[in-house]
Amino acid sequence: MKITIYMATSANSLTSNERNDPFWLSQEYGQGFMQIAQQTKAVIMGKKTYNILAPDYLPLKDEGTLAVLTHDTNAAPANEAVVFTDKTPPEIVAMLEGRGHREAVIIGGTATTTAFMQAGLVDDIILVIEPILFGGGLPLFNPADFEYPLHLREVTKLNDNTIRVHYSIAK
Ligand SMILES: NC(=O)c1ccc[n+]([C@@H]2O[C@H](COP(=O)([O-])OP(=O)(O)OC[C@H]3O[C@@H](n4cnc5c(N)ncnc54)[C@H](OP(=O)(O)O)[C@@H]3O)[C@@H](O)[C@H]2O)c1
Repeated sequence: MKITIYMATSANSLTSNERNDPFWLSQEYGQGFMQIAQQTKAVIMGKKTYNILAPDYLPLKDEGTLAVLTHDTNAAPANEAVVFTDKTPPEIVAMLEGRGHREAVIIGGTATTTAFMQAGLVDDIILVIEPILFGGGLPLFNPADFEYPLHLREVTKLNDNTIRVHYSIAK
């Protein structure tokens, strides 16, 4: 299965500010988010990210699979696509493959991207780099034991101030 991380970052690579205020995210980031979710039909996210998006802003609703990492697997899902799971990253990949998916996108947050990177399961990473610097906030990954060279696939200017950088991960 091909797994891609799609996330927005500040110019100094943070994925949220201290206040967790999303004002800095561009319309183009949001459009790309919906587009890649519709393309893959399989989206992986952590429960904190889900709690920010649910129910109105979830990228999948009545088709596909929205795998949400949580220890609270008895929570009521916001729609038919939601699957709450406390499985490991390899088990989540197996679950998605069992449902017929051939690709998936991880949309955050930091705990979730780190777990999949640590497990060596990520193939591509797409960063939407927004024109802002944060003195504090959440990084793309928590400290973890990995190091991967990248191949640059594409750089796209999305608007006057935002770029999208697409890498594949060399494994
Ligand atoms: N810039 C971007 O593109 C972007 C995108 C998405 C999110 N964000 C930001 O990222 C932040 C959230 O990131 P985060 O790292 O705090 O949280 P997260 O990854 O969204 O969710 C963390 C939660 O997921 C569950 N979880 C994580 N690993 C698990 C595992 N191995 N097994 C079972 N459950 C697991 C736990 O939920 P339970 O406590 O329920 O067990 C944990 O509290 C927010 O501030 C959001 O704004 C940024």
